[in-house]
Amino acid sequence: MMKIQPLGSLARTHTCGQLTVEDAGRDVVLLGWVHRLRDLGSIAFFDIRDRHGVTQVVARDNPEIVAAVQRLRPEYVVAAIGRVERRTPESVNPKLATGEVEVALREVRLLNEARTPPFPIADEGPVSEDTRLKYRYLDLRRARMQRNMILRHRATMTTRQYFDENGFLEIETPMLTKSTPEGARDYLVPSRVHPAEFYALPQSPQIFKQILMIAGLDRYFQIVKCFRDEDLRADRQPEFTQVDLEISFATEDLVFATIEPLMDRLLRLIGREAPHPFLRLPYAEAIAKYGSDKPDLRCGMEISDLSAPFRESSFAAFRSTIEGGGEVRGFVVPGGARYSRRELDDLVEQAKGAGASGLVWARWPEGTVQSSALKAAGEETLRAALGAASCGPGDLLVMSAGLHEPTSTVLGGLRLALARKEGLLNPDSFKFLWVVDFPMFQWDEAEGRYEFMHHPFTSPLESDAALLESDPGHVRARAYDLVLNGSEVAGGSIRIHDQALQRLVFRLLQISDEEARLRFGFFLDALEYGTPPHGGIAVGLDRLVALLCGEPSIRDVIAFPKTAQAVDLMAGAPSTVNPRQLRELHLKVD
Ligand code: AMO
Repeated sequence: MMKIQPLGSLARTHTCGQLTVEDAGRDVVLLGWVHRLRDLGSIAFFDIRDRHGVTQVVARDNPEIVAAVQRLRPEYVVAAIGRVERRTPESVNPKLATGEVEVALREVRLLNEARTPPFPIADEGPVSEDTRLKYRYLDLRRARMQRNMILRHRATMTTRQYFDENGFLEIETPMLTKSTPEGARDYLVPSRVHPAEFYALPQSPQIFKQILMIAGLDRYFQIVKCFRDEDLRADRQPEFTQVDLEISFATEDLVFATIEPLMDRLLRLIGREAPHPFLRLPYAEAIAKYGSDKPDLRCGMEISDLSAPFRESSFAAFRSTIEGGGEVRGFVVPGGARYSRRELDDLVEQAKGAGASGLVWARWPEGTVQSSALKAAGEETLRAALGAASCGPGDLLVMSAGLHEPTSTVLGGLRLALARKEGLLNPDSFKFLWVVDFPMFQWDEAEGRYEFMHHPFTSPLESDAALLESDPGHVRARAYDLVLNGSEVAGGSIRIHDQALQRLVFRLLQISDEEARLRFGFFLDALEYGTPPHGGIAVGLDRLVALLCGEPSIRDVIAFPKTAQAVDLMAGAPSTVNPRQLRELHLKVD
């Protein structure tokens, strides 16, 4: 056991990432954790680490100090006091910012010991996510997580500064509030003072930010926690952060022109740019070309209608689908001509598993047509299809027949899987686009009624407003999503500012006047007091930062995330509570 010593008045002179040859000869104090140890008997080295970096420390000459270093263990907290020396040329470490120097110890002070960590901090090797989350304080010490936290901090600072420069006010909205409809379940908080009454944690500040526009605050933003009780995935957490904003007298153009330069500034944090304006793609076109409302544009591979060659062909399966109002749709996989029979069979199975009635592939490597439907469709028809799709000799054409939308969606899933397989989704490429003209409503088969696609405060396209009562399924909304590399990183809309229209939309959603009053009465009242036209958007900060960090999961850019089962493994939440607390809250648990 080593004796733990007090920090006393010892202050650090430099961080562990700071020293260079310019500092040679200087007396310094570094404070940090023991990162790696190397014992050569008469000389002992260790790396001292803090958030800023790592510096090599060496004990030689003085046997007492050498012995003290030999007693250190990884993750002990120490003060290294000594003189900066240039390393000999052969011991320079070009990978380290401080790699040209080391600190020759005069004293090492043990500030605290540490238990042996369940995984090494110094190695980037794989560790199970559950272990990382349980010992998050150790996981956060590792270089990757430190880098992610630092980049996230930079992103929020850049964002705040950007909005301040552009006349936005950061205004906090309540966490204990009433339900905001964003399509998920609410987290409820029981009231002690009002028996049987509950607050809801906000799914978003939507209603409050609209009220801020009614209140004349003109431009609002907030970096804000939102809470949604929904099924979790790699890009979904029960509590997550939005960069939320709202603008009075907004048009789509104004919202886009606000967000695009912000995206550019954020990408510059990682040495990239976001040339703008971004592409705008109507929802219907996104589905048709990419089979997704959040298309990844890094890989081309557009889906197209290849019905023409099959319309009068001998291929009964395709022909009858076309006659029944369906289409033959397909896309080209660059480099796919080399796939083995086995890979092709797997593809067909994959498509069927995703709901396709079947998948036909075709290729013409040396001018000879090969296809899973060669016999049924004939060479001529397939040749026409390969030509229509501009399939190159090294490529593969895949096709499926059915109704326009489901067929596109199945092919969209296959497109992504194949793009991934072919390495076409370059993580260093950042492709933004706006998806616009979303349908206002979608039919909920189970409930037998229309559901909103974005949220019920979204305005219809002016040109479609007349269809609201007669044909709501065909009304497009003034809603937009910002998509980056296949991930929906933001969503927003131009809002309804006319209460008669708002009431009509509630009615179409089968929200009765009574229920609307109960749920959003305060908001409907506010709408009647001079509401300016307004609109806004919310950026999913976690998703955006994950993309900037090159992380596949948003859990890796959140300091204390929850598992896919919505559990905080470190704190042990959720947990049971003391019966007295339940009584105070007037609650009985089943
Ligand atoms: P929306 O529901 O589209 O819009 O949310 C905006 C963005 O927030 C991110 N996001 C999530 N991120 C992590 N975990 C989740 N569970 C989660 N849910 C959503 C997404 C999404 O694009 N009030 C509206 C915005 C508006 O109309 O202005 C809203 O919340 O990146």
